[in-house]
Amino acid sequence: MAAIVGAAETLDAGASEDAQLRRSFLDILLRHAQRLAQLTTDLLDIARLEAGYRPRTESVPIAEVIETVTASLRSRADERRISLVSQSAGHFAVQAERAAVEQILTNFVENAVKYTPEGGRISVQALRKKDMIALEVEDNGPGIAAEHLPRLFERFYRVDNARSRELGGTGLGLAIVKHLALANGGDVRVESTVGQGSKFSVLLPSA
Ligand SMILES: Nc1ncnc2c1ncn2[C@@H]1O[C@H](COP(=O)(O)OP(=O)(O)O)[C@@H](O)[C@H]1O
Ligand SMILES: [Mg+2]
Repeated sequence: MAAIVGAAETLDAGASEDAQLRRSFLDILLRHAQRLAQLTTDLLDIARLEAGYRPRTESVPIAEVIETVTASLRSRADERRISLVSQSAGHFAVQAERAAVEQILTNFVENAVKYTPEGGRISVQALRKKDMIALEVEDNGPGIAAEHLPRLFERFYRVDNARSRELGGTGLGLAIVKHLALANGGDVRVESTVGQGSKFSVLLPSA
């Protein structure tokens, strides 16, 4: 908020008359306004989840969720020359709220696109694990040191605060994911090796 006010004041004080300054302060304004919008949405999501969210579950075909989510994030992956592939989605279906499954997968894939360097690879797949279905997103990005893994799903927890902020992160994405997974009768997992990549999974009851 302070950055937005500061940029607007600077423009108002005359920076808007210089084309280059105008461009750069408008960029700042836009970037911070987008971040504030994301933060507001995330905080509202958390508040709703904590106020006693009851999912409306149905049988959700996993292949459809993977298709919807990868289609919506494809252009962002392309911009960063990241290949986004989905492997065997099979004929699995989960008993969960469709919007929640989409939001969980979107968060995982968005993170993978953000944190994986240009030219990387992200794969999405579904597997059966007894009476649960695991939905996994694996990347070959920087990986996360073991000491961070136990706290990754806490609110506002970020491995690299400065870098995450720069990329527009709020540190709430994975906390929302965990809430949604638990409320839908599932759970989350993460495995990661520094220098090799990360694998985030959600387990949901098989339909
Ligand atoms: N695929 C990934 N590769 C590396 N680090 C990741 C990945 N996904 C999440 N992280 C780390 O976990 C932190 C928390 O993620 P999240 O809750 O989504 O917050 P953010 O808004 O920062 O993306 C991120 O700041 C980042 O440090
Ligand atoms: Mg995130």
